[in-house]
Amino acid sequence: MPLEAFGIPAACHLIGGVWTPGSRCLPLHDPSTGALLTHIALGGAAEIDRAVQAAHAARAGDWGRMTALERGRILTRLGQLILTRTEELAQLEARDVGKPLTQARADAVALARYMEFYGGAADKITGETIPYLEGYTVYTLREPQGVTGHIIPWNYPMQIIGRSVGAALTMGNACVLKPAEEACLTALAFAALAQEAGLPAGALNVVTGLGAEAGAALAGHPGIQHLSFTGSVGVGVLIQTAAAQNVVPVTLELGGKSPQIVFDDADLDRALPFLVNAGIQNAGQTCSASSRILVQRGIYDEVRKRMVAAYGALTVGPALSDPRVGPLISARQKDIVQGFLAKGADLTIAAQGVLTPEASALGHYMRPTLFAEVPSDHCLAQQEIFGPVQVLIAFDDEADALRIANSTDYGLVASVWTRDGGRQMRLTKALHAGQVFVNNYGAGGGVELPFGGVGKSGHGREKGFEALYGFSQLKTVATWHG
Ligand code: NAI
Ligand code: MG
Repeated sequence: MPLEAFGIPAACHLIGGVWTPGSRCLPLHDPSTGALLTHIALGGAAEIDRAVQAAHAARAGDWGRMTALERGRILTRLGQLILTRTEELAQLEARDVGKPLTQARADAVALARYMEFYGGAADKITGETIPYLEGYTVYTLREPQGVTGHIIPWNYPMQIIGRSVGAALTMGNACVLKPAEEACLTALAFAALAQEAGLPAGALNVVTGLGAEAGAALAGHPGIQHLSFTGSVGVGVLIQTAAAQNVVPVTLELGGKSPQIVFDDADLDRALPFLVNAGIQNAGQTCSASSRILVQRGIYDEVRKRMVAAYGALTVGPALSDPRVGPLISARQKDIVQGFLAKGADLTIAAQGVLTPEASALGHYMRPTLFAEVPSDHCLAQQEIFGPVQVLIAFDDEADALRIANSTDYGLVASVWTRDGGRQMRLTKALHAGQVFVNNYGAGGGVELPFGGVGKSGHGREKGFEALYGFSQLKTVATWHG
């Protein structure tokens, strides 16, 4: 039982600080081998209701009374505790998600880093005084939203817990977390470590279960005062609709079709690893994956040649063997991605990665695939694929590049590769995206850097200090004293 080392009994929720056995359970499989990993509890409306009540009780009790300094100390302690357990967490994530070990290790360190960043930030969020009419003193207070619901996906559980639960706890909210049914082991491990670090009972509750059951119950629960969701556009719409019924704010992070734009003056030696890695990291199952590579016509053949060579060296295998590319999360996700490949039957496949002999038929493996000469209005250039698939698109000039880059419904991340400073400035302003990178992609993950989308990529910002504003609300106090 993989969670034993964290002191977690099998198939339990964490509700009000108590590991509570589920009345039903669901098997969890290793995407690399198809082997049974463990069983998770299958929660529904009843468990969600108990978790929401436990969170309210925590707000009314020890957790709600704690100072920002004390909250910060708990988070900092949690960060340090995670740092002592990163290898175990990485192994857990690798087996649960099918994520190559190097990436899983980076995610575990990022989870610790979120706790350190937010632990240090907890007592540095202040209000302001506002000059006003004669006889008044006016100031603002930052207060928690209250009880926050967090529905997260399976692709980066640790990172997404860090940025959403970490920020919410920092501001004094009490959380109910519903991890994805495909991968939720590190969510449970995180909750156990949070308890060990001194987080009071009920400040973080974890209910595992299906989206349509536990997820929907959480999204619609009238006791929830803020919802944070990362996942598909379709479910994002359901979450926002449910939130509207209770008139509560939502943060939605719904993925994208993020472009990298390579101009003919770019430093190709520097660009190349970013062009490829940003597409195949986590087998392309990344909200901020760069699935579109836009290349100026004069260097198109050269970039294509270099990317083809890079794809030839992409090894696909089991997560624990630490290949460049692991399996997809599930047979269902593989079907979705293969459906896109079928829709690309009219296109040219420029290159594919290689399956290693260890990539058994029982795992959900796919060869990373690079399509060339893709028209910018083709569905493979417009829709999120969420697999190791990239398209190469040629453009003529800056205006053409901008038109193509901004032509999808999404707007999460974009990057510009050019040495021309004026062009950098013009494009960073004109690109529809929540984050724009110049001569890099992703800036190493950036716990400190506000992150979120425009258009169908969602709204609200996570990470950095900005997330703390999202997980709090402002109260304006005006005192007349004459
Ligand atoms: P999903 O959006 O269905 O699942 C994400 C989370 O939402 C999971 O915890 C799930 O249990 C929950 N959920 C599902 N239905 C729900 C409902 N009716 N009410 C409340 N919660 C619900 O994503 P799925 O099915 O795993 O993947 C499908 C596609 O979604 C992918 O191919 C990809 O395009 C996109 N996706 C994007 C992600 C991102 O990082 N932005 C992450 C995961 C998926
Ligand atoms: Mg779904």
